[in-house]
Amino acid sequence: MNFELKTLSLSAAAAHPCDLLVVLVPEGFKPRADALSSLAAHALKAGDLDTKAGKLLPLYAPLGVSARRVALLGCGDGTARAVRQAVLAAGAMIKAPSVRRLALVFAAAPQAGAVGAAVRAVSEASYVYTATKSKAEPRALARVAVGVADAAAARAEFATATALVAGTEYAREWANRPANHATPTLVGQAAKALAKHPGIQCKVHGPAEVARLGMGAFLAVARGSEEPLRFIELRYEGAGKTQAPVVLVGKGITFDTGGISIKPAAEMDEMKFDMGGAASVLGVFRALADLRPAINVVGLIPACENMPDGRAVKPGDVVTSMSGQTIEILNTDAEGRLVLCDALAYAARFKPAVVIDIATLTGACVIALGGLRSGLFASDDGLAERLLAAGDAALDPCWRMPLDDEYAEGLKSNFADVANVAGRAGGSITAAKFLQRFVGNTPWAHLDIAGTAWKGGAAKGATGRPVGLLVHYLLGIEAAGSARKPARRAARVG
Ligand code: BES
Ligand code: MN
Ligand code: ZN
Repeated sequence: MNFELKTLSLSAAAAHPCDLLVVLVPEGFKPRADALSSLAAHALKAGDLDTKAGKLLPLYAPLGVSARRVALLGCGDGTARAVRQAVLAAGAMIKAPSVRRLALVFAAAPQAGAVGAAVRAVSEASYVYTATKSKAEPRALARVAVGVADAAAARAEFATATALVAGTEYAREWANRPANHATPTLVGQAAKALAKHPGIQCKVHGPAEVARLGMGAFLAVARGSEEPLRFIELRYEGAGKTQAPVVLVGKGITFDTGGISIKPAAEMDEMKFDMGGAASVLGVFRALADLRPAINVVGLIPACENMPDGRAVKPGDVVTSMSGQTIEILNTDAEGRLVLCDALAYAARFKPAVVIDIATLTGACVIALGGLRSGLFASDDGLAERLLAAGDAALDPCWRMPLDDEYAEGLKSNFADVANVAGRAGGSITAAKFLQRFVGNTPWAHLDIAGTAWKGGAAKGATGRPVGLLVHYLLGIEAAGSARKPARRAARVG
């Protein structure tokens, strides 16, 4: 799908050749003398068009417009959020097999973030999963023109949004693939494929190397599976080697049966999405390949299956993590924190500025926050604020949760340094407290995306979240860096 940003007045939009022309009409819309303006003004006056976000008035071949199909689409107050909501409401029209060329035109100057939101919503609405369908129709939509009064003003957010489309769709694609089509080996190959882009490097370690590193917790989870584990190490270098990287760690459980502490059968298929954190790391790197920001990023993905087997780890087993801490595995279904704790310990060797892990970690987080906001845990207030703001800007929001030390009480063990589960109460917090033991003093954040990485029910499928949040956060680091640079340069000259 190819996006193009164009300077288009409504009269120019009327002459634009396409299969579907969508006109975004905000509250307080001021019509001009052109055909589309009159149509919209007329329809508003007659009460057939409403400017509430998502209200749609489909038209057929109206006079003076070259597109056969036209839709007037209310976009409320015109904020990024309202525009997203509007475009998603028109999703069925945009997704129609006959629409190859779409034009989406803002009838009034867009608010900050609205162009990016429109681009991303078109992708969100039109993505189709085809990888394991024998007769699936691929996405018909090939070209999308986004028309605004002043293209230059929206250029930067447009570029971010198109990169985010590529990254989010990459994440959705890998998270959607069933576990037999997204094994740790195949996820490793997907990461390797990203290294064909300039600036990205990838190493994939197998079981022997992981054993040599002493990752006893990760190895314990992988023991029950015939599929060999992979430890994936991605690097993006956009700044000098002296700049400390942000390390992203993504939970890559390609299928979570629960292991010997086996899960009930209902909805167990959804545990193919348990590598949503890993998929989001792949998606971020896909977006970085397009954006090439002046920062350094490392991506770490411990990938394996969690299966019951004669060799599987058993409740009560004690293992030694890479950090040296011993762990009593009281519940083999709390496996995410076991693979993550070794990856977090490994992260220290990059001397990171920040470590962020992303994981479909706990059902308790779904109970706490539902599907709207990801759970955010952070050891550093500044980092928490930046991630909250990035989530708001990207329309990929999160919500801060507490990390008081008292929450770690329940993780005490009579047989090891720490147990891998506490009681049921505050389950997403005790999971975060477990992870925190393995981070050290680096500013750290943990995103529990168990409620946000995929949707269940009829719309079952991966969302690609939180690629938007993470990329906005990373671009914010770049912007802060370049804001400081001129001052430093001036100081040197003086
Ligand atoms: N992958 C699951 C978390 C999960 C469950 C995500 C349901 C989304 C929906 C994780 O590995 C897990 O099983 N967590 C357990 C932890 C418990 C044993 C302490 C859970 O949440 O039940
Ligand atoms: Mn589990
Ligand atoms: Zn899991």
